[in-house]
Amino acid sequence: MKREKIKQILTDAPTGRPALVKGWVRTKRSAKNVNFIALNDGSTINNLQIVADVERFGEELLKDINTGASLAVTGMLTASQGSGQAVELQADSIVIYGKADPEKFPMQPKKHSLEFLREQAHLRFRTATFSAVFRIRHAMAYAIHKYFNDRGFYYLHTPIITASDAEGAGQMFRVTTLPAKQPPLNEGGGVDFTQDFFGRSTNLTVSGQLEGELGATALGEIYTFGPTFRAENSNTTRHLAEFWMIEPEMAFYDIHDNMDLAEDFLKFLTKYALDNCMDDLRFLSTRLQNEEKDKPADQRSMELVEKLQFVLNNDFARCTYTEAIDILRNSKTYQKGKFQFPVEWGVDLQSEHERYLVEKHFRKPVILINYPKEIKAFYMKQNADGKTVAAMDVLFPQIGEIIGGSEREADYDKLTTRMAEMGVPVEEMWWYLDTRRFGTVPHAGFGLGFERFILFVTGMGNIRDVIAFPRTPKNAEF
Ligand code: 4AD
Ligand code: MG
Repeated sequence: MKREKIKQILTDAPTGRPALVKGWVRTKRSAKNVNFIALNDGSTINNLQIVADVERFGEELLKDINTGASLAVTGMLTASQGSGQAVELQADSIVIYGKADPEKFPMQPKKHSLEFLREQAHLRFRTATFSAVFRIRHAMAYAIHKYFNDRGFYYLHTPIITASDAEGAGQMFRVTTLPAKQPPLNEGGGVDFTQDFFGRSTNLTVSGQLEGELGATALGEIYTFGPTFRAENSNTTRHLAEFWMIEPEMAFYDIHDNMDLAEDFLKFLTKYALDNCMDDLRFLSTRLQNEEKDKPADQRSMELVEKLQFVLNNDFARCTYTEAIDILRNSKTYQKGKFQFPVEWGVDLQSEHERYLVEKHFRKPVILINYPKEIKAFYMKQNADGKTVAAMDVLFPQIGEIIGGSEREADYDKLTTRMAEMGVPVEEMWWYLDTRRFGTVPHAGFGLGFERFILFVTGMGNIRDVIAFPRTPKNAEF
């Protein structure tokens, strides 16, 4: 008999025919003459109820069917007497692939804390919460490719090992084959990287953007979707040392086209989740409500599905950095001295400021543009005021910055002048500058932090819980 997926069986709910299923036991419950086994095969958050006659299978076999054990079950699909499901499987034969000793298996059928599950990251896929998170993460990755493919963007694979550290996005991880003990030294006493694998110092990339621009200025519209690495020592619920970023880059787009694309893209992904992941979203919504039930009403999050619909159905607010500073300085929070970090024109906005704008002032996602040039990267288009650049950050509730992007400086002279001012090595970047030297065009792009977006869609609170094996300071287990 051919194995069937539990998702299909529960969706079609056929009865009166045999079926073969394979999966892992979530729970087992004993009634008078039968055992009820909840079997999950990862295809859906929902379990198939297996009904096993005690007399037929015997206590000896049934006692080994515990949470975590893996089974193959054949039997007859019948309409379920119970209220939880339309169909169940009356077992004819049960094969145990592997037992899971209840004394030793860490995933017991009870509530485990997310902290505990992080230490069991190899097994946490077996929980309902994490299986839901990773099914949604997959659906979002697929939706990202679909979105861009349907719009004529090309998926460009930019390098992971790079010699340029021009982005200035944070500390980089060095990639080297030189010995850690007594590496070769140059005349100045520094490490002699000419003897290294690539004949120069190399790092893990912090962004695929600069290479992405090379593609966009020929292919028109490209996107990257790959891992990026930042060795910043920020132990927060929103930072990873290894995270995935989606970076579209578009020729002939200005900052307004860029904002429109970012908003449309985020709404498309949100709609895709609502259209395709509803079982998992409902489960995560209930999880979140339980988690927050002891919080005062004004500190609870909006119900998850409602929140996604809200983002889908409302225009994002758009405002300039300068306006945002005014809003913040006029706020009660500022006037009562309740912001931890200073608010004045020229400072980088902190997460507390971003969240105030989104959650208290505008009460919806916000796109901030035209930041002071001093706090942004060298490649951003310089505005006519001489003070700001055409940067844009998209800010989301509970998360803060989810997207960072800009229109790019297309003028060779302005760009090289700014690079010199900021100490970016102009010579080393000859290949990047060639885009401005030959057939330069206005262009723009942005980067979406994939895990930050998954936090938003799943309602999870810690970025370590939306990537399979998180990499954070002092943590690279698994
Ligand atoms: O704002 P960032 O640094 O922008 C860039 O890297 C540009 N090159 C993007 C572009 O214009 N093509 O990073 C973009 C996004 C942030 O908005 C955030 O969502 C996410 O990447 N991000 C992180 N996510 C998790 N952990 C970290 N340490 C992150 N740093 C940035
Ligand atoms: Mg940023």
